[in-house]
Amino acid sequence: MACTKFLTLNNGEKMPVIGIGTWQASDEEIETAIDVALSAGYRHIDTAPVYGNEKAIGRVLKRWLDAGKVKREDLYIVTKLPPIANRPHEVEPTIKQSLADLQLDYVDMYLVHTPFTLFINPDGSFQFDDEGRVKVDKSTDHAAVWAEMEKLVENGLAKSIGVSNFSKEQVARLLKNCKIRPATNQIEHHVYLQQRDLVDFCKAENIAITAYSPLGSKGIAKFNAAAGVERDLPDLMDIPEVKQIAEAHKKTPAQVLLRWIIDTGVVAIPKSTNEARLKQNLDVFDFQLSTEEVAKLCALDKNIRICDFSFFRGVEQHPEFTFKNQFTN
Ligand code: A2P
Repeated sequence: MACTKFLTLNNGEKMPVIGIGTWQASDEEIETAIDVALSAGYRHIDTAPVYGNEKAIGRVLKRWLDAGKVKREDLYIVTKLPPIANRPHEVEPTIKQSLADLQLDYVDMYLVHTPFTLFINPDGSFQFDDEGRVKVDKSTDHAAVWAEMEKLVENGLAKSIGVSNFSKEQVARLLKNCKIRPATNQIEHHVYLQQRDLVDFCKAENIAITAYSPLGSKGIAKFNAAAGVERDLPDLMDIPEVKQIAEAHKKTPAQVLLRWIIDTGVVAIPKSTNEARLKQNLDVFDFQLSTEEVAKLCALDKNIRICDFSFFRGVEQHPEFTFKNQFTN
């Protein structure tokens, strides 16, 4: 069953409302998962150089395209300008590297991954200060980066451009300085972090919202642990209201969480490398939440940010870092 529901972006392009998120998946896992996802009907794939799996995804895409099993125009591929390359002169070479890795001529959407910028060493590793904090490049200039992003649309390397992890204030600032408006802002968005102010602002500005961590991104625990961050994460699929609504519809809690996102006009990119769960996450179009159920889910908001970048200790020193995390609180 293919994802046949699309959101029309502010430039007329159509984005499938469900995509597969690929963060926290190894090369091996992701090659199998993308194969399974394409067979299941996914056409929207969300990746990034930061996830380290563009080459693996590229290999699967090439096999499918060469075999004529899918047409390029039916795929919707999203990738991102990483925080280590968030500088004007790095935009074009960085997308060209992603395109080479993905074995594509263009991407459907290219996003500025974060509003902040990090320094790396010549070998690609992060730079750290004496206290083990990641070194931030405070010279970030969103307008200058955006001008280079616009050129990608003009020269055909990206059909659409957008941002990710941008606050309302950052989006508003960009709008004052752009020729091409961002088509989407990809943000953490789920029942416990609804970000209504930001979502409503973007919608009013005709900027689509793409929800990452729609299921609560439990896998982030290992990043936090590796960085020495101790934090209990909520289990969105265990919330009584979500479970109760799922039972009423004979669906799973994950399907209810995804349906709620789609019903509020937002695109969702759940990550899974498991065949049954991948299929389940696409199987959300055969039931409808009632107005009362939507209201019940909207009332769950707790402003709990799961991906707060605590695993990048030091990032909070960047002037464009707007999230609260354990180092800013
Ligand atoms: P897995 O890859 O083993 O399926 P998010 O998309 O919010 O980042 O959440 C992804 C996490 O949720 C992953 O740990 C993923 O594990 C798990 N997951 C994905 N789909 C489902 C589902 N339908 N039911 C339960 N867990 C899921």
